[in-house]
Amino acid sequence: MKLDFLVDLQTKEKISSKISQTVQNFAAKDLGFYNAFADEVEIKNFAAEKSNQYDFFVVLGIGGSALGTRALRDALQTDFSKKLFILDTLDSQSILEVESQIILEKTLFITISKSGGTLETMALFDYFSQKLAEKKIPLNKNFVAITGSNGLLYEISQQEDSTTFSIPTNVGGRFSVLTAVGLLPAALIGIDIEKILDSAQKIAAELLSENFEQNRPFQLASQLFDHFQNGQKTVVLMPYIAKLKTFTEWFTQLLAESTGKNNDGFTPIPALGPIDQHSQLQLFLDGPANKQVWFIGQAHRDSNIKTKKLQIHPQFNYLSGHSFQKIINAQLTATAQSLTEKNRPNHTIYIDDLDEKTFGALIMLFEGAVAFLGEFLEINAFDQPAVERGKLLTKEV
Ligand code: PA5
Repeated sequence: MKLDFLVDLQTKEKISSKISQTVQNFAAKDLGFYNAFADEVEIKNFAAEKSNQYDFFVVLGIGGSALGTRALRDALQTDFSKKLFILDTLDSQSILEVESQIILEKTLFITISKSGGTLETMALFDYFSQKLAEKKIPLNKNFVAITGSNGLLYEISQQEDSTTFSIPTNVGGRFSVLTAVGLLPAALIGIDIEKILDSAQKIAAELLSENFEQNRPFQLASQLFDHFQNGQKTVVLMPYIAKLKTFTEWFTQLLAESTGKNNDGFTPIPALGPIDQHSQLQLFLDGPANKQVWFIGQAHRDSNIKTKKLQIHPQFNYLSGHSFQKIINAQLTATAQSLTEKNRPNHTIYIDDLDEKTFGALIMLFEGAVAFLGEFLEINAFDQPAVERGKLLTKEV
């Protein structure tokens, strides 16, 4: 499994001496994201049984209880005989749109909330419970819950005798995609969760290494932090892989909610190549010099989709016979070079195929790096105290 990127030599020289202390501080914390994974056997058995009974799966959840699941689905679903919808909004048009595409009796609703009391999720839960009640379908037949062990959702699930999967106490919402939160919906649509966990565990093992060369999450954090200290506090994540679009949304929450503390922090910008070459790139090249750009590319991949001998115009002859993958790779290389020429820091993470293995590794690489950023910034990367005020005011309003 390939997951390669280069760290600047001066960054390594500056930060690698911090590794022992940082890793020891990190290891002393009770953090479950790199060892409290989902019980894959329990999930696989459940998924095998339910995917025969249901054609539609609807996740009701938001934030860390939705973004990772969407990223997993969009990156890895290849069998589209089952449909997985994710509702993380109270926008009625979106809800009605999902409703129009499902058959209630053939739908399994998966309510996901670590706290078990999130407004959007509980409102959606209530709405669809009523829909089932109208059809006299018992709640526990078409609902499962994934939740922490002491919230309202847990209480209701116990009362209704619904199947309940737990989210470990020491795994925070935005770090929970490798628990049942992401892996149960993934397994239901035929994604191989064993491979995801296998590669995530390999990167997780690197997290405790005090050897800079053998700890890729620490390397990534070092480079992000070194640019941060030079004033490049905005991080653009720009894969040249269309199926990673919603992965950048997952990353946005991870970086923003974890590091946005004490009037400081990283600002993430999700982007996608080549689309953003024609949209945001002008800003990255010629706007404020406060950005670091991270590409994700597939250098050695090729495809059999090719341009033929081009008939349209001799001007396009330079494309003749090249595979689309080669062209997209050339675009990445050229975009990176144009940024470098303007002294705009940029790096490329190279993977081979986008599959379960690379995806699991990417998740753990970024989660680990953000956890290390918390150490560098001397903040708690696992809470989000500022957003509580808005929740309180919503209730009042
Ligand atoms: O990262 C977090 O903890 C939050 O963003 C949560 O994921 C989000 O608020 C949803 O919370 P819950 O899973 O409790 O419904």
